[in-house]
Amino acid sequence: MTRTIHVHLLPALFEPADVCDGVAVIVDILRASTTIIHALANNAAGVVPCGAIDEAFAVRQSAAAGTCLLGGERGGIKIDGFDLSNSPDDYAPSVVQGKTIGFTTTNGTQALLRSQQADEILIGAFVNFSAVLWRVATQDKPIHIVCAGTDGVITGEDVLYAGALVTALERGTDCDQVNGYQVNDAAAIAANHWRQECGELTSARIEPALRRAQGGRNLIRLGYEKDIATAAQVDSVPVVGFVDADKVIRCSEALT
Ligand code: MLT
Repeated sequence: MTRTIHVHLLPALFEPADVCDGVAVIVDILRASTTIIHALANNAAGVVPCGAIDEAFAVRQSAAAGTCLLGGERGGIKIDGFDLSNSPDDYAPSVVQGKTIGFTTTNGTQALLRSQQADEILIGAFVNFSAVLWRVATQDKPIHIVCAGTDGVITGEDVLYAGALVTALERGTDCDQVNGYQVNDAAAIAANHWRQECGELTSARIEPALRRAQGGRNLIRLGYEKDIATAAQVDSVPVVGFVDADKVIRCSEALT
């Protein structure tokens, strides 16, 4: 059987209905997807992706007192009235355990919301790379890798991850029943970018590539340099984040 991999280099480059029969992997390496995975692994009850800041305030309003925190950013900076920024460091177990997080970011949550028609939605980051790889490799649905980009501009760090995942899928896993993938041109471009910039799934190779990319340069400018190192830690947080029927991102253990 041949399966398909579509990389979407930006959310605007696909129509919401294009992903309806597939599994969508949402990628905002710096930092929304990395941060969501940290929050879930640290036992947040769930992450509610919100398109607008007001929606996040409404999530908190409707939650029982003390059960909900708000997290995210605009322009990379914590939002006024929010509890947490978009830095993974803010989502420590002592802070997020048992809490629902109303979460909104400039690009990552928007990419997720545009992919809502997908059959299954997963959160992809280097920190949970193998967990996502196994989850998508063991199904027979079309795979859509959705890069968030930044303000409508393609970003190297998301394309890097997309290329790493395409390359790993094409190489195959032990549990993979697939004889080959049909990939779109964007997937081939992403795989080339991965080979040229990194080619090796190690934090030591990935971190410098993230620093060179648009998102990395932004974070260095904003003083969040340490988040780049966190995002480069391959398989440091081996959980799968998926969107459930209530449109909340929940955690399941990796099956690797
Ligand atoms: C986003 O979703 O736009 C990013 O995660 C931005 C950031 O973390 O600064």
